Amino acid sequence: MPKTNHGALRGRIARELDDLRAQAQFRTLEVPGGINLCSNDYLGLAADPRLKQALLDAVARSLLTGSTGSRLLSGNDRAWEELETEFADFAGTETALCFSSGYAANIGLLGSLLQPGDIVFSDALNHASLIDGIRLSGPAKIVYPHGDLEFLEHALREHRDAKGAKLIVTETVFSMEGDVAPLRDIVRLAQAYGAELVIDEAHAIGVRGPQGRGIAAELGLERDILAIMHTCGKALASAGAVVCGSRALRDLLINRARTFLFSTAMPPYLAGQIRAALHLARAAESERAHLRHIATALRQALAAAGHSFGASTTQIVPVLLGDNETALHVAAQLQENGFAVKAIRPPTVPPGTARLRLSLTSRISLEDVRRLAAAIHTACQSAPQTSSASTVHA
Ligand SMILES: Cc1ncc(COP(=O)(O)O)c(C=O)c1O
Repeated sequence: MPKTNHGALRGRIARELDDLRAQAQFRTLEVPGGINLCSNDYLGLAADPRLKQALLDAVARSLLTGSTGSRLLSGNDRAWEELETEFADFAGTETALCFSSGYAANIGLLGSLLQPGDIVFSDALNHASLIDGIRLSGPAKIVYPHGDLEFLEHALREHRDAKGAKLIVTETVFSMEGDVAPLRDIVRLAQAYGAELVIDEAHAIGVRGPQGRGIAAELGLERDILAIMHTCGKALASAGAVVCGSRALRDLLINRARTFLFSTAMPPYLAGQIRAALHLARAAESERAHLRHIATALRQALAAAGHSFGASTTQIVPVLLGDNETALHVAAQLQENGFAVKAIRPPTVPPGTARLRLSLTSRISLEDVRRLAAAIHTACQSAPQTSSASTVHA
């Protein structure tokens, strides 16, 4: 019998888990309880009875419970094509194509667009799905410091005569910082230096722009951008994602995006749910106004108590705490006080920037926000180290 080496991999698993525990980076799954501040349900649609009814109606209309295959085989359904037409109108683009998640959309999109020899300019704080999409497709990658236009312009100028394609990739509302990319300037640079642009509106959809149509629509730049990725699992309280752009882009994705080609389509009734969510999100003006109001109130309360929330200007408000232990301590204290809050630690955020990521939803009251700010302050004071909770960058 050849000697087996089972022990090697199992030993490595145990060591990795021990390392994670030692670095206070070991994660477990929990069901959130209390006032939920770690949800992306920004418009509160996840518990909206109108959306639930729309889903039930869509299920009742659907002949099939499952899609039965990839969209290129048996899985296509008119419900998806109707949704895509409506989504293109929403995004302000010629066409749209649905994917089963934002992660799959970004991987499929970047994998279809890029090849070795191309150059990608990627914001340092881009989401893992963008990073992985770039990594998998093999272009040269230049990571520019978060939002640093000077660096980006310098890098674009340096590679002005490069033979391959040039692509800038950025989120619009950044998921961990809650700030907004300088999109107008990025578009200007892209045009000046012959680069294309892919944006991820995961945290802007439903929240920013006219009718919640996102930052590109807010700035009227929809047709200047090669591809706009919107997710449906956050403010739309559904699941899936949509890549919006030209007809040629859609055709390319249908033919080349591996996460589209080689994956079972989502059940057709979900298209009905997403469509209803889109209608509700477009009309949710009072929810958007409330969200802006409570986010401003939270930042004001944190600033008054000397806590840093970075450059947040949106419904996502980080409380920067520095080391993992402090972040875990403060999160645990808040949980005890009835706030569902998570400590966000490296590698999700850069080392030394562990934080609470407070994501507000329109169902949270101003009173809750005030109680939250007070509870954060109390928890920080009892933390073993309150390393960075002191400097405010407004
Ligand atoms: C900026 C960003 N892009 C993409 C995704 C992935 O979207 P999904 O959760 O639909 O896979 C996320 C999810 O957290 C995100 O924050």
